[in-house]
Amino acid sequence: GDRKLWGGRFAEATDGLVELFNASVGFDQRLAEQDIRGSLAHVAMLGRQGILTEDEVAEITAGLHGVLADIRAGTFEWRLDREDVHMNVEAALRDRIGPVAGKLHTARSRNDQVAVDFRLFTKEAALDLAGKTRELRAVMLAEAEKHLETEVILPGYTHLQVAQPILLSHWFMAYVAMLERDEGRFRDAAERMDESPLGSSALAGTPWPLDRHATARELGFARPTANSLDGVGSRDFALEFLSACAILAAHLSRLSEELILYSTFEFGFITLPDSHTTGSSIMPQKKNPDVSELARGKAGRVFGNLMGLLTVVKGTPLAYNKDLQEDKEGVFDSYDTLSIVLRLYAEMMPKTVWHADVTRAAAARGYSTATDVADFLARQGVPFREAHEVVGGLVGLASRTSRQLWDLTDEELRAAHPLLNAGVAQQLTVQESVRSRQSFGGTAPDRVREAIVNAKQALNP
Ligand code: ARG
Repeated sequence: GDRKLWGGRFAEATDGLVELFNASVGFDQRLAEQDIRGSLAHVAMLGRQGILTEDEVAEITAGLHGVLADIRAGTFEWRLDREDVHMNVEAALRDRIGPVAGKLHTARSRNDQVAVDFRLFTKEAALDLAGKTRELRAVMLAEAEKHLETEVILPGYTHLQVAQPILLSHWFMAYVAMLERDEGRFRDAAERMDESPLGSSALAGTPWPLDRHATARELGFARPTANSLDGVGSRDFALEFLSACAILAAHLSRLSEELILYSTFEFGFITLPDSHTTGSSIMPQKKNPDVSELARGKAGRVFGNLMGLLTVVKGTPLAYNKDLQEDKEGVFDSYDTLSIVLRLYAEMMPKTVWHADVTRAAAARGYSTATDVADFLARQGVPFREAHEVVGGLVGLASRTSRQLWDLTDEELRAAHPLLNAGVAQQLTVQESVRSRQSFGGTAPDRVREAIVNAKQALNP
């Protein structure tokens, strides 16, 4: 390798294994575009401030564009002995334009350089995932609207035991609500990280008369960071991104779990599209929900990326420590993972077929209208606790004799409570149960229709 950019005080060459261990170019080359954007803004500002001459700025600027073109063309030679993206770019610039390249790093440190590169990347990633989350949100909303027309009914569960019937649209709208907050978390994080650390230099600022506001503006940041130690030493912007990723991954994992269950032979609620399922190499009948299983499984690594960086950061004294080089791969990984999962779900959900007859029948089983019978009694003045007790007795009787509530005889009902008769139990269909739940945010079709109107308005204001 060539002489290190920091080689001045060193007499002995770097150990080979140390070089390998120390190098980040294998992954941080992904920041090349951001790195060069940062350098272009920095050098232009150095010119305006009279720190570099116009000629120097012109030479360095043209050189950086040349390096960028090589990188984009895939002809750039990334060298491990040049350690990281910053020194690869700078050394390539020197190969191209000679010693004047050395003036680019005036009033700058790799510490503020990497901080600005990584903030640029993470901000873009946050906004991109916000957009992709919004797309899935729109898809789920369209599904909610589609299934409202026919008032498809789904069993609602607690403890994975049938609880009360709900509209399938209501179920979709629950995910719309979660995805709306997920998107908001990415946008909030992007807004909070919208500050440029460039010009913090190594840790303490610099004696050079920089215009940090100008470079911040040029790079699309709202403002420069206010404290140089914080600017180079903090990674909570990445932590916030990773936690927004983790929460989104948790939601997608819950969705996955539900779809996996619903697609089983035992549930039979949905048929997943052939395009998004796989077969078995031995069992010819199999159609496996691999996309959902992987989406559920990948939540593990997305959580891990958050926990990993929290752990890296917690023991580091201010300001920069090499530990912080470990901040990038998790962010790249969570970003890539969620980009693909969000896209796959946006494609898969509209192609998933819901079997309304099966879901409706399932919603009627498990005494799902027992609460409605209790409410019927309570409306006649019976205290709800007493009504609950009475209906509990009826459910016990029905289940001991393998019947549904509507199979109970007039005598049995009247014996349980004089206000009950067979007509009551028969009226309490799943459809009536759903229709009755008119409370704000409830599953009645009118309420869900309103929720859809509001959600559309929020999506396209
Ligand atoms: N590759 C380093 C990182 O990703 C760049 C900053 C290095 N700074 C330093 N003083 N060694 O964190």
